[in-house]
Amino acid sequence: MEPNSQRSYLQSYPNAEGYFGRFGGNHYPPELRPALEELASSYQELHQTPEFQDALNKARVGLQGRPTPIHYLENLSNQVGGAQIFIKREDLNHTGAHKINHCVGFALLAKKMGKKKLIAETGAGQHGVALATAAAYFGLECEVHMGEVDVAKQSSNVGRMQLLGARVISATTGQSALKEASDSAFNAYVEQHEHALYAIGSAIGPHPFPMIVRDFQAVVGREAREQFRSITNGSMPDHVVACVAGGSNAMGMYSGFIEDPGVVLHAVEPLGISDELGQHAATLSYGSPGTLHGARSVMLQKDDGMPARVSSVASGLAYPGVGPEIAMLHETGRLSIAAISDEEAISTFFRMTKSEGIIPALESAHALAFAIQLASQRPSSERILVNLSGRGDKDVDFVLEKYGTGTSPALS
Ligand SMILES: Cc1ncc(COP(=O)(O)O)c(C=O)c1O
Repeated sequence: MEPNSQRSYLQSYPNAEGYFGRFGGNHYPPELRPALEELASSYQELHQTPEFQDALNKARVGLQGRPTPIHYLENLSNQVGGAQIFIKREDLNHTGAHKINHCVGFALLAKKMGKKKLIAETGAGQHGVALATAAAYFGLECEVHMGEVDVAKQSSNVGRMQLLGARVISATTGQSALKEASDSAFNAYVEQHEHALYAIGSAIGPHPFPMIVRDFQAVVGREAREQFRSITNGSMPDHVVACVAGGSNAMGMYSGFIEDPGVVLHAVEPLGISDELGQHAATLSYGSPGTLHGARSVMLQKDDGMPARVSSVASGLAYPGVGPEIAMLHETGRLSIAAISDEEAISTFFRMTKSEGIIPALESAHALAFAIQLASQRPSSERILVNLSGRGDKDVDFVLEKYGTGTSPALS
């Protein structure tokens, strides 16, 4: 990774062909090329205009409730007795997670491009609800594809999307989960691209999606850097931690710190039930280079190159790949990786709830679980900043039914 020294990291990556090192590019059927070229050129032309930025900022403040604060987890840090743990409260975004950061951007872009409809996939339902919200705000139609398994698990989010006026389409092939939802949404985009824009759920897919998602999510890192410096008299965090599926919350957060070599960037993956293929979704830990959803990246694959089955208690982390930028940052050594099991994530979900009064999304509980492990090994002079990507309201029914209230000593 050798960015051009005259340009910032964000200006240097991806290159003109949409590559982050050897990852990324556009590996989709040629039918989609005109739509992707139109998207790339419209984005370049529009997103930095004062008109676009004003409308984006208005939605960031009024609809989303930005800026989100940084909060010191005093109780947990004291219990652990090591490094200090801070969280960036993306859970306080309207609709409950970071996903709305790029949904609002895509919806505004669609409107300016004269599109009538937004299409997307969703896993935990957070992205779907965020997109349906942005579509309602900007007066656009919305179609969300969701695996049948997730439709059942995240039923309150399905109801929310429908209330907001979106059409929810159930994907019933294969594992009926996030990968199948993405396949189904991409097919719908191929058919409808003349009047619809695909608002992808993460920093994945063919160029220019990973770049656009990262740029819209970069508001998290920009705010976090400024806020962290202001509350710590100009210091930087020693560690920045985020959970990773495709990498949208991680890239948003990392982008504020990527050019500070003293800040260690940690990517936390779901180890699921075990390290056996099919029982986790820890792509960087166990995956290999391949092509998934139109981009070269790293993925979990079977011997025939097809995506492997994945498993995670957090629906939003159950994806057999990572975005190309995450793959590059890992390959170049800029990212440090860790994997957290379902059991560790659930136990952290209960611990955070009872110690701090904040119910984290199961996805974010993975990042927190690792931060707690890291804090216990580091001195109290060090500071860890975690991206708390979402709130756990969506997970409450599932957790209560499967694990109870967490009062058992084994879980609290
Ligand atoms: C709260 C939350 N955090 C994290 C993720 C993982 O996605 P990404 O890697 O794109 O941030 C999801 C995905 O649904 C999510 O809902």
